[in-house]
Amino acid sequence: MLKPVLLVSAVALFAIAPSTSPRALAQDAATKTKVTADSQTKAKKLYAIDCALCHGATGDGKTDLAKDMQLTLDDWTDSKSLANAQDSELFKTIRNGKGKMPAEDKGRATDDEVWNLIVYIRSMGKAQPVAAPAPAAPAAAPAPAASPAPGN
Ligand code: HEC
Repeated sequence: MLKPVLLVSAVALFAIAPSTSPRALAQDAATKTKVTADSQTKAKKLYAIDCALCHGATGDGKTDLAKDMQLTLDDWTDSKSLANAQDSELFKTIRNGKGKMPAEDKGRATDDEVWNLIVYIRSMGKAQPVAAPAPAAPAAAPAPAASPAPGN
C-alpha cells in the first residue's frame, strides 16, 4: 500500500528538479572548483604520476600493474563506464581509496586538484558531455570543381 505513495512522491521530486537530467546533476565536479586549461594540465601531470600506473595513461585500465595485482578496472575511454557514477562518489574513492586503490591524501592533492582529476578522467571517455566540446568539424567545403586540368 505504501509503495504507490512513494512512487508518486519520487515522481513529484523529479518534477520540481531543474530540467537537467539527474545524471548530469551528479557530474558536478566542474562546479566544485575552477577548471581551466592550466588546472587540467596539472591534473594530467598528477594523473600520470599517481594514477596511470594502475589506470593507464589513457584510462583504459589495461596496465601491467593492474594485471599483476589482479585489479578489475573500468575502461574510462568508454564513456559509459562512469556514466552512472556521481562525482561526489568518485571524489570519495580518490580521497579515501577503495579496495586495492590507495588513497590520494591531502598531502598529494588538494580538493581542487581531486575535482580536476575527476574532470580529467571523465574527459577520457569518448563523447563525454563534461569534456570540452570537440572542435567543430570544418564546414564541408564545397568539393573543388572537377575542372579538367588545363592541357589535359
Ligand atoms: C594501485 C592501483 C591504483 C592506483 C595507483 C590508483 N587507482 Fe583508482 N582504482 C584502483 C582500483 C583497484 C579501483 C577499483 C576499486 C573498487 O571498486 O574496489 C579504482 C577505482 C577508481 C575510481 C572509481 C571509479 C572506477 O572506475 O571504479 C576512480 C575515480 C579512481 N580509481 C581514480 C583514481 C585516481 C584519480 C588515481 C590517482 C590519484 C588512482 N585512481 C590511482 C586502483 C588504483
